[in-house]
Order: sequence, then structure tokens, then C-alpha cells
Amino acid sequence: MTAPILQLQAVSKEFGGIHALNTVSFALKEGQIVAVIGPNGAGKTTLINVITGVHRVSSGQVTFRGEDVTGQRPFQAARRGLARTFQIVQPFPRMSVLENVAAGALFGGAHARMSEAMEAAREQLAFTGLTAFTDRPASALTLAGRKRLELAKSLAMRPQLLMLDEVNSGLNSSEIDGALALIRSIAGRGITILIIEHVMKVIFSLAERVLVLHHGELIADGSPGEIAKDQRVIEAYLGEKFARRSPPPFPPPHAGQG
Ligand SMILES: Nc1ncnc2c1ncn2[C@@H]1O[C@H](COP(=O)(O)OP(=O)(O)O)[C@@H](O)[C@H]1O
Ligand SMILES: [Mg+2]
Repeated sequence: MTAPILQLQAVSKEFGGIHALNTVSFALKEGQIVAVIGPNGAGKTTLINVITGVHRVSSGQVTFRGEDVTGQRPFQAARRGLARTFQIVQPFPRMSVLENVAAGALFGGAHARMSEAMEAAREQLAFTGLTAFTDRPASALTLAGRKRLELAKSLAMRPQLLMLDEVNSGLNSSEIDGALALIRSIAGRGITILIIEHVMKVIFSLAERVLVLHHGELIADGSPGEIAKDQRVIEAYLGEKFARRSPPPFPPPHAGQG
């Protein structure tokens, strides 16, 4: 068995009296696409924040490729190949779309010189379909465009593990289809993906495994089909999300996969 790319061992994070994460343990295999779901306030964003060093853990250990990276700083995480997108997208509004992505490339440290960073940025703008906006200010982008900009930025860091924080929230159905295709081709490059997601269609068509957080605890870990039937998950999250929906909330497992 190959060693996991990422491992969390009993990771806890407290803010004042709040247990944002409570002894969370799991390991990710290289090349997996894993979804993280849970109600608002469950600790999903905090999970990415402790993995990337935005927040220090209160206790526990984070290991990346066998190396203890607990307590690393965000720039060190980026340089190791741990990239993330932000739930609230905040590009530098007056900088061009190209400059925003180049800034990401420089932060990730994969490109020492500005000319290389610009080159990497152009490549990722093409990949994410933003070439037409290269020289426009980031403020000219729609929400869907800003989400793509976040993706381009994190890809310009040449990640090995990419963590996506609600990249589909607020997007319409055809924009989500576009994002799905993009995420699939990112995975096709061999990049491991941890995706925080509320859109069930995305979870079912992308993720081979789903982690469920509730009040900072990992209450379930399984395939989408297993998670959909899990009583604790239904009570904690899916029931609330789908209680008033009909027809039945779930497509059968693997529906929609072409
Ligand atoms: N920087 C912070 N300071 C204080 N409390 C925080 C901070 N970040 C998150 N929290 C709290 O931790 C809990 C988990 O938040 P978060 O990880 O953002 O949840 P999710 O992303 O699942 O909606 C919430 O109760 C939230 O208010
Ligand atoms: Mg969040």
C-alpha cells in the first residue's frame, strides 16, 4: 500500500470555547477526489485552514507525504504543493486577471522569476477559459469568473493537493457543469483533490469518497452511496437539506457519470 499524501491524526481546533474541529483523523490517497460535506459551521473551512497553516491546530498532527507539517505557515504549505481556493473570492480588484494569477504563481514558489510566473499564469488562464479576460481588471469578472480565477491562481502554484472551498456555490446549473468538467481535468493531471461542496450533483459525479463533518466531528466517511444512506448524516445534514424536497433527494449512486 502506498503512503497517504495527507494524513490528519486527532486534529482539534478551538476558537475560544468553540470546538471547530474535534479530534479529526483521516488519510487521503494520492489521486483521490474526496468531498467534505456538513452543515454551515461544521468546521469545513477550518479544516482547510489548519491543513494550509492559516490556523494553528490546538492539538493533533498533520502529515504531508510522510513529513510532519503541523504548524507550517501558508507560504510553506504552498511551496510544498498544498494549494487551496477561498470560499469568499477576493481578487485584487484593480490588478489585471493575469496579474492576480501570476501573484498566486509567485506565492507558490514554483516560479522564481516574474516572466515565468506570467507564463504559468497565461497557461492556467487558458486552461480555465479566462484568456479573453487576461488584461481586464479582476473586478470585470462575474462570480463564476472569479471562481475560475481562484482555480487558475491555485493551479499556477503547481499543487499536488488542491483543496476547493465551495467553488460552485452561487453558480447556475450550466456554470456548475463547466466547473465539473474543469475539476475532472484537474484530477486527470494526477492532482489529489479535497472538495468542500454542497451541490449534490457535484458530489455524486466527482467524489469517490465523502467525509461528513458535524460540530467539528467527523461523523461519517464512505462512498457517496454509503453516505446517502447513513442515518447520522441524514439527521445532521441531508435531512435538513432535503426535508422539503420531492422527488427523492438522491440520484442513485453514480447517476450522471458518463
Ligand atoms: N477565525 C475564527 N475565529 C473564531 N471562530 C471561528 C473562526 N473560524 C471559524 N470559526 C468558528 O468555527 C466553527 C466552524 O467554522 P467553519 O470552519 O467556517 O465552518 P464551515 O466552513 O463548515 O461552515 C464555527 O462555529 C465558526 O464560527
Ligand atoms: Mg466554510
